[in-house]
Parts: sequence; structure tokens; C-alpha cells
Amino acid sequence: MIRSLRTTYSTFLLLIALFTTMCNVLAATPTAYGELSSDMFTDGTKCAQCHAIIHNEWKGTMHYYAYEDPFYQKEFLAASNDTEGIVDIFCSRCHTPIGVVSGEIPPIDGSNLSDIARQGVQCDFCHVVSGSNGTGNAPFVVSPGNIKWGPFNDSKAAYHESEYLELYTSSEYCGMCHEVIHPINGLVIDDTYKVWKEGVYAEEGVVCQDCHMTPGITQFEANPGRAASGAKKKRSYLHA
Ligand code: HEC
Ligand code: HEC
Ligand code: HEC
Ligand code: HEC
Ligand code: HEC
Repeated sequence: MIRSLRTTYSTFLLLIALFTTMCNVLAATPTAYGELSSDMFTDGTKCAQCHAIIHNEWKGTMHYYAYEDPFYQKEFLAASNDTEGIVDIFCSRCHTPIGVVSGEIPPIDGSNLSDIARQGVQCDFCHVVSGSNGTGNAPFVVSPGNIKWGPFNDSKAAYHESEYLELYTSSEYCGMCHEVIHPINGLVIDDTYKVWKEGVYAEEGVVCQDCHMTPGITQFEANPGRAASGAKKKRSYLHA
């Protein structure tokens, strides 16, 4: 009797363990507010030592200015006032993702923000995304450190380790942020990802990167180049 109870109990535990593992595989847990610190991320100027072309392209883009952008600042402060601060972390998660995962914002005047968090959607933020829990409202998982994730499966660098992650080559990567869903009523506010998903391009397998990270935007031109100084020539992606 005792033995069979025990067996039942351990089977039960085993099932729970299996279930938890399955859940972890299916749904990655997005990195939470204040879980990390901003000094775990590396400044883009360090990347520029070898990725000078990409750094030049990125500097001055809306990703670079996602936080400092005056239009954003104006709307952000107004939205924060209107909601008594309810939206502070919500808006910041896409516009200064490092500021959110390091818990440096709020205060909304940015007085606690590090320089790296002010650089909006930054190199070493984008390339330490190690997973995502779907699209919309920035459900990214970030693992800052020595590994840089990206589109190549044969990449070798002296400064960092490289790892291939399919997410980088898919629209779901961009769809983490380019789909804004109202946190309370569930309405889609920015539907860029949704429009793509329901359109012909998704059906034909043409992803965001095919247009936005290649020259001539709709031409799908290959862009042979070197991803880093000294690297072999292969396909390279625009960061403009
Ligand atoms: C918005 C997120 C984002 C930002 C910001 C960003 N990258 Fe990327 N990067 C990507 C994605 C996505 C790809 C893969 C594109 C593909 O495979 O279609 C990529 C590709 C790369 C590659 C692979 C080689 C190549 O030429 O495509 C390197 C190297 C790279 N990025 C370095 C950088 C550096 C350095 C910075 C900052 C100066 C940077 N990235 C900023 C998302 C980003
Ligand atoms: C899930 C990610 C995400 C969240 C959350 C988010 N945004 Fe944005 N925001 C974006 C993206 C992506 C764009 C660029 C949209 C485009 O051009 O299609 C953008 C653009 C903007 C712009 C336009 C900037 C310009 O110069 O044209 C403003 C203003 C803005 N957001 C304010 C806010 C405010 C205020 C909040 C909070 C209430 C917020 N955003 C929440 C992702 C987000
Ligand atoms: C000392 C030079 C050097 C520095 C500094 C450097 N990289 Fe690289 N990186 C390389 C080389 C070389 C490659 C390989 C390029 C190739 O495979 O064609 C590479 C590849 C990459 C890749 C592609 C990985 C993949 O598997 O797809 C990414 C992403 C990347 N670097 C991001 C960064 C970021 C972000 C920084 C700054 C935090 C940085 N790198 C700093 C030299 C460097
Ligand atoms: C971490 C969140 C994040 C990710 C991931 C991201 N973006 Fe963005 N993106 C933004 C934000 C925020 C803005 C708007 C900044 C602003 O205007 O204040 C933006 C702006 C842009 C703009 C300029 C919009 C304009 O109105 O000029 C383009 C184009 C763009 N993103 C394309 C992409 C593509 C393609 C990808 C995937 C390879 C991607 N983004 C991934 C957050 C993100
Ligand atoms: C077939 C090519 C194509 C695909 C696929 C595509 N786009 Fe675009 N996208 C464009 C063109 C062309 C524009 C108009 C931009 C311009 O005139 O500079 C645009 C505009 C935008 C803008 C507004 C930028 C602006 O200048 O107003 C954003 C943000 C954007 N796309 C993000 C995305 C994201 C995210 C995806 C994937 C979910 C995506 N796009 C898929 C071609 C494409």
C-alpha cells in the first residue's frame, strides 16, 4: 500500500517535472524589470573597432535615437502624466530596453539612466537577445555576456563567441517590438508585424530583414561584404 502510494507520488512528481520542462521549452520567460545591470552590456564603440561599417550605419538611425528622440520624449512624458506613471516601464521597454532590464527607468526624467541605456536599441542589446516569448510588447529574453547571437553558423571572432539563432533571420525578431498591444484593452496600436503576417510577403516567405536590411529596400539585393574587418566576404546585412 505504502509502496504503491509512493510510486504514484513519484510518478506525479515526474509528470510535474516533465510538464515544467515542456513549458520552459515552449514559453521563454521574458527578462524582467531590473533583473540585470547596465554594466553587463558593452558600448557600441567597442563593437566599432571591428564592425566599423555596421556601427556607422546604425549611428543616427531611429534605433539609435529610440530614447532620445524628442517626439518620443514628448509623448512619453504626456502618457506618463495622463496615467499617473502606469505606462512608464511599458513604453520604456522598447524605447530604452537596457534602461528597463537594468531598472534605471523610472525616474522618467532619465536622471538615473546610464549612457548605454540612452543609446536606445543598441548593438549589444540586440545581439544578446537569446530568445523570445512570441511577438508584441517586447517579450525578449536577453543574456548579456561573451556570446553574440546572429545569423551566421560559421562565425569566428577573437573578441567574442558567436552563436547562430534562427530568430535573427525571421520577422518574429522585429515583431517583438514592432507590434504594440494596449496593455489593458488588448487593442493592437502598432500593427506593423500583424500587417506583414497577414499579407502576401509572409506567404511568400519574404521577411522584414529581406527589405529593411538590404540595399534598395524592395529589391532584395544581396549585399556581399565583410561583417567585420578581416573576416571573409559573405552576405552582410545593412543596419541603416
Ligand atoms: C534592432 C536590432 C539590431 C541592432 C540595433 C543591431 N543589430 Fe546587428 N543584426 C541584427 C539582425 C536581426 C541581424 C541579422 C539579419 C539577417 O540575418 O537577416 C544582424 C546582423 C549582424 C551581424 C552579422 C553580419 C552582418 O553583416 O549581417 C553583425 C556582425 C552585427 N549584426 C553587428 C551589429 C553591431 C556591431 C551593431 C551596432 C553597431 C548592431 N549589429 C546593431 C539586429 C540588430
Ligand atoms: C512593443 C514596443 C513598443 C512599446 C511598448 C512602445 N513603443 Fe513607441 N514605438 C515603437 C516602435 C517599433 C516605433 C516605430 C513605429 C513605426 O515607425 O512604425 C515607435 C514609435 C513611437 C513614436 C514615434 C516617434 C517618431 O519620431 O515618429 C512615439 C512618439 C512613441 N513610439 C511613443 C510611445 C509611447 C508614449 C509609448 C508608451 C505609451 C510607446 N511608444 C510604447 C515601439 C514601442
Ligand atoms: C576584435 C574584433 C571584434 C569586436 C571588438 C567585435 N566583433 Fe563581432 N565579430 C568579429 C568577427 C571577426 C566576426 C565574424 C564575422 C564573420 O563570420 O564573417 C564577428 C561576428 C559577429 C556577429 C555574428 C555572429 C553570428 O554567429 O551570426 C555578431 C552578431 C557580432 N559579431 C556582434 C558584435 C557586437 C555586438 C560587438 C560589440 C559588443 C562585437 N561584435 C565586437 C569581430 C569582432
Ligand atoms: C527592442 C525593440 C526593437 C526591435 C527588436 C526592433 N526595433 Fe525597429 N524600432 C524600435 C523602436 C522603439 C523604434 C522607434 C524609435 C523612435 O522613433 O522613437 C524603431 C524604429 C524602426 C524603424 C524606423 C521607423 C521610422 O518611422 O523611421 C525601422 C525601419 C525599424 N525600426 C525596423 C526594424 C526591423 C526591420 C527590425 C528587425 C530586424 C527591428 N526594427 C527590430 C524598436 C525595435
Ligand atoms: C517587401 C519589402 C518589405 C517587407 C517584407 C517589410 N517592409 Fe517595412 N517597409 C518597406 C517599405 C518600402 C517601407 C516604406 C519606407 C520608406 O519609404 O522608407 C516600409 C516601411 C516600414 C516602417 C516605417 C518606416 C518609415 O520610414 O515610415 C517600419 C517601422 C517598417 N517598415 C518595419 C517593418 C517590419 C518590422 C517588417 C516585418 C514585420 C517589415 N517592415 C516588412 C518594405 C518592407
